[in-house]
Amino acid sequence: MILVEARNLPAHVGIIMDGNGRWAQQRGRSRVDGHREGSNTVRRVVRAARKLGLKALTLYAFSEQNWARPETEIDALWILLREFLLSERNEILDNGIRLNAIGNVGKLPSIVRAVLEPLRRESEENVSMTLNLALSYGGREEIATAAKELAKRVAAGTMTPDEVTPEALHRLMPSLAVGDPDLVIRTGGEHRISNFLLYGLAYAELYFTDALWPEFEVEDLYKAIAAYQARERRYGKVGKAAPVQSGAQVIRLAV
Ligand code: IPE
Ligand code: IPE
Ligand code: MG
Repeated sequence: MILVEARNLPAHVGIIMDGNGRWAQQRGRSRVDGHREGSNTVRRVVRAARKLGLKALTLYAFSEQNWARPETEIDALWILLREFLLSERNEILDNGIRLNAIGNVGKLPSIVRAVLEPLRRESEENVSMTLNLALSYGGREEIATAAKELAKRVAAGTMTPDEVTPEALHRLMPSLAVGDPDLVIRTGGEHRISNFLLYGLAYAELYFTDALWPEFEVEDLYKAIAAYQARERRYGKVGKAAPVQSGAQVIRLAV
């Protein structure tokens, strides 16, 4: 039994979905099989996140640096993403999910953009949960793009150098339009960030699990959230004497 408190949920969860290749290799299968199995994990995790009531879920699906992978693997990833978007379209719309993409979406092949863009438009008024897909995304690239925009404004005289503040940069980060991530989960056993949401990570709680993404279960998401709820977020201030837990309304999740 995992206990998740209903009133202390992270609003924005980010996931570095890692380990598809190793999952396949362990089974003597191709890396693409691992990505296919990983797309099934995406389906169950999105459904569970919505049912829990998270406000935003950001999934790191393809980094800017992943373009350096073999072309056959990249092509297969785009086909799987297209299939995911087509098969989940009704579930996304019926459940009020806003589907958004962050990253250098212009670089994606037209087979993906042709399904991504209409779904993005059709779902943009939805409010139950924002599903941010990080595609051709890099945290450093996002910061550089925002910095470039501020530089242009200063050069054009519409802004002064003193107005270049952390808040001004923040407002220009598409990944943070849903707010800073409260919890970031990385599967696959590596303890690194790999260029995900760098600016927004300032006070995120980090959770690492050895589970490879294809074997990550809904219960693993609950475990990560329960771990988050047991932590004290201090934001540089001094802490409370003891974490307040008593009387909290809990959602009991049978596993
Ligand atoms: C994550 O799994 C998916 C993507 C980066 C697209 P990997 O493909 O990185 O799997 P491993 O880390 O090689 O096992
Ligand atoms: C991070 O995984 C990127 C995604 C999950 C999309 P990688 O497999 O690309 O990261 P590294 O190479 O292990 O740092
Ligand atoms: Mg990897």
